[in-house]
Amino acid sequence: MTKVAVEFTLNTREQNEFVETGSTLLSALRDRLGLYGTKAGCHQGTCGACTVIIDGEPHLSCLTLAERCRGKDVTTLEGLAPAGALHPLQQAFMDGFAAQCGFCTPGMILAAKCLLDRNPDPTRDEVVDAISGNICRCTGYEPIIAAILTAAQGLRKPAR
Ligand code: FES
Ligand code: FES
Repeated sequence: MTKVAVEFTLNTREQNEFVETGSTLLSALRDRLGLYGTKAGCHQGTCGACTVIIDGEPHLSCLTLAERCRGKDVTTLEGLAPAGALHPLQQAFMDGFAAQCGFCTPGMILAAKCLLDRNPDPTRDEVVDAISGNICRCTGYEPIIAAILTAAQGLRKPAR
């Protein structure tokens, strides 16, 4: 198996990894780097559990070749709370009981973060659209949508 060097930014830190050609970013994150916050669901681009942020946009890491991340800025769930304090989206999911088994939660939160970064005051429909590629088998989606809107509201408040 041929390996190639890939330099990229992962959760604000420079990373230099040797990855097998043709391997996925999902595999690199979980199997090489031990970042289990990125969930492996369907492995075929239908569930959204493996969503990460690449250069500010949500991407399915199961469909992204690791070698294509050269020079990119990758954020996983672990990058949202680097100092241990929860990100407002994580807090809103906890407070609003928007996670049950939790399997979809990292992908939902990262998809939502991309939305709120570009649109701090989304409508409910815009939230629904932003998470339309993420499947949840537990919650019925309503608590997730409510948590994202709550987090958006909190993030818009000026800091005191
Ligand atoms: Fe990537 Fe399901 S594991 S979309
Ligand atoms: Fe279980 Fe969403 S909380 S799949």
